[in-house]
Amino acid sequence: MLPRRPSNCFRLLAGAGITWLLIVFLKSNPPIPRVRYGAHPFPLFQCPHSSNSSPGAVSTFRSVNTQQRILLIRDPASTSHTLILDHLEFLKVSVWVEAIREDPGLLLEDRNGGRFSLIVFANFRTFDSLSAAHKSALANYSTSYRVGVISFAQPAKTPLPKGGSEADCRGRLQFVAHTGIPRIARSRVPIDLSGLARSAWSLTSLPEWTPVLEAAFNDGSAGAVIALRKEPFQHVLFGHNLDLWPVKLGFADVLHYFLGSEVVGSLERFIQIDIDDIFVGQVGALLVERDVDVLVQTQREWRDYVEDFHFTLGFSGSFFRHGTDEEKAGDSKLIERAKEFLWFPHMWRHNHAQEYDETNLTLFMNQNKEFAMSNNLNISLDYAVAPQHSGVYPIHEPLYAAWRNVWNVEVSSTEEYPHFSPPSRRRAFVHRNISVLPRQTCGLYTHTLYFHAMPDGMQKHVDSIQGGSLFTSVLFNQFSIFMTHQQNFANDRLSVFTFSTLFRFLRCWTNLRLKWTPPVDLARRYFERFPSERSLLHTDVCKDRRHVRMLSVNETCSDVKRTPNVFGVGPQKTGTTALREYLLLHPNTSSNRMVPDGFFEEPQFFGGPNYQRGVNWYRSLFNETSDSSAVVFEKTANYFDNPHAAKAIAQFAPDAKIVVILIDPVDRAYSWFQHAKAHGDPAAANRTAKDALLGPTDDRAVLKLRSRCFSPGFYVEHLERWLDHFSPAQLVILNGKELRENPAHVMNELTSKLALPPAFDYRNRLLYDERKGFFCIRAEIPAKRRCLGSGKGRKYEPMTSELRRALGRVFESANRDLLRFLQHYQFQPPSFLLTP
Ligand code: A3P
Repeated sequence: MLPRRPSNCFRLLAGAGITWLLIVFLKSNPPIPRVRYGAHPFPLFQCPHSSNSSPGAVSTFRSVNTQQRILLIRDPASTSHTLILDHLEFLKVSVWVEAIREDPGLLLEDRNGGRFSLIVFANFRTFDSLSAAHKSALANYSTSYRVGVISFAQPAKTPLPKGGSEADCRGRLQFVAHTGIPRIARSRVPIDLSGLARSAWSLTSLPEWTPVLEAAFNDGSAGAVIALRKEPFQHVLFGHNLDLWPVKLGFADVLHYFLGSEVVGSLERFIQIDIDDIFVGQVGALLVERDVDVLVQTQREWRDYVEDFHFTLGFSGSFFRHGTDEEKAGDSKLIERAKEFLWFPHMWRHNHAQEYDETNLTLFMNQNKEFAMSNNLNISLDYAVAPQHSGVYPIHEPLYAAWRNVWNVEVSSTEEYPHFSPPSRRRAFVHRNISVLPRQTCGLYTHTLYFHAMPDGMQKHVDSIQGGSLFTSVLFNQFSIFMTHQQNFANDRLSVFTFSTLFRFLRCWTNLRLKWTPPVDLARRYFERFPSERSLLHTDVCKDRRHVRMLSVNETCSDVKRTPNVFGVGPQKTGTTALREYLLLHPNTSSNRMVPDGFFEEPQFFGGPNYQRGVNWYRSLFNETSDSSAVVFEKTANYFDNPHAAKAIAQFAPDAKIVVILIDPVDRAYSWFQHAKAHGDPAAANRTAKDALLGPTDDRAVLKLRSRCFSPGFYVEHLERWLDHFSPAQLVILNGKELRENPAHVMNELTSKLALPPAFDYRNRLLYDERKGFFCIRAEIPAKRRCLGSGKGRKYEPMTSELRRALGRVFESANRDLLRFLQHYQFQPPSFLLTP
């Protein structure tokens, strides 16, 4: 049968549809007009004062003998802590978010000292309503470890300390020098807030609180928006949250006061402004001769703000002179004045690296290099940027290889690692000896050409510079590489406006010293300050939609391929094999297949020897499943005490559940000793357990064995590390003794905690086996049962009570801390902690 021809009505509808689509397309992508507007002089920020005083004497009140960790106590009734958390994350320090419960109160110290170096109450009310006993415990902690407390009064919600009052924040603020806190903030210069119609709390008539940020309001009231009270402990109260820039500025200085320069950084801020897409872009959006002159002039002018400032220009030679006559002349002018700038390769035809192999990339790069050489561009930076970040992260190996071979690239930058959002969590890494630094966005993209056509309106952009996200970025990042585009320096020259305003604003209100340094030196300084960022931590790129779009052409993310969402992390000898076997009985669970080359059950990936094999290797161990409610389980029993595993898992699977099994650490130590003995470890085989574990020795093999027996059993220390990266709600702690003696009960509880459908009753599948002395699995065929192998549930002589007592003393104080820890985070303590 011939296909039927569409009816007239259908054609009419189709025509209307196409017209509508065209209108929508044109609306969202307006063509760039051929008519060039003259550069529109948008007024730059004018500093209302002429003072350029440098910071006075700055003091710090730094914690001693504490972990480098911040406790953020949230208001259970609001999400006010999220803005604070967002700012704290710039510091790259672990932040624990907790809600206060009356009992057991705050858990501030363990036997190693203070657990936190700073305590922040998202709502002053939470602090205020602490019981007298908890307040005094907080005061004791704060004074003995020199730990500061910060709290925020939430506008219109918080009862202030006696004498406090609310005021409309229209008036003047001023930082006061004598507290020693203002460092970045310029003190003694009035900040007029009349433009900011926001209400805020002010603290008035409070003799015991010293103003840090003083307020004089239009209604005649006066007080402080930030104030310090030194007695009975160091407490800074904020009278407004962090959406007001002077408060943000004060917050940065208060953090320095309590945490010092090692955490908060110096007053130096390194600024690099990349201009990507040189020669690239739509006709009408390109530089003309006058723009090039302004660029040279701007570079010169900005040296007044940024020491030794140089623009870094990323070029794609293939597009040279492709615009209008005016724009062609602009390109030629750029080349004429090439020596005024430093240049870096962007890619010959703005190619997306992910789409090409090494041979092609090498070809493109060589073409671009030839262009650079024949036009005498200064390409000495050993720096490169990939168009649209393609191939940098997620990593496209051929890009790195070609970069190294053709350009000897040592440094690059991206805004994609580990994720684009939130910017406060962007980090650096090193791959194939190329340092990849975090890149910051400044609100300008290839399509932002005119003041009148800013996507969210110009006022929003100005706000972001004058106290908003761009200002915050420089305030908290010591190293900023900004991404701009050639287009932003043409037409209305929005970039010139943006950074001129930013520099003026920063100079007006801060003591920051802006500097430029070559990218290689920038990277050196960056990693000197943040050495732990050198090693790349894999993310699960398939879970980030931006990253999925940037995968190498030969890589795909299957809809049905899943990576683990539940990890059994150990510790070893607590019943982890039994747990894995039991869990896999459930129809909605799966796990990795045996690791090839060695036929091991445990992937040993995170923090382990297989990590360098990469994510694709890890991913290949797991089967496909279309059931999104399923548990994909991975068990590697030494993740628990591996110092790198928790961080690496959190990067890869931030929402995962972490299952830990606890047994009496004395039994665990003895079980490991028996394991070593059975494996012929001479340190165990030739000694009694008492000698090997407790006898005097300097034999390295014995000391190593001892460390494997004891170290994982100091449970609380390891649990703390897991909670540096996961919330308590993600941690599932199982009682190993119960798992051994009543596994059906433990497994039924576990599967319901993991929300595993459908209901599955373990009582029908687990049977106690007299011969094995442990529970075994009832197979589908009756009369058949499957027990764990001979290496699990070994037969060995029981521990003597003398040895048990002696080993008990090794773990005594750690167990005490563990009990407090478990109670505090509302985990059921296992019985070995409760029986004396
Ligand atoms: P022992 O062999 O010292 O008795 P892991 O799998 O984490 O290495 O733990 C091994 C331990 O699991 C064994 O140590 C044993 O006590 C415990 N276990 C719990 N349930 C078991 C079971 N059903 N079969 C064998 N061992 C079990």
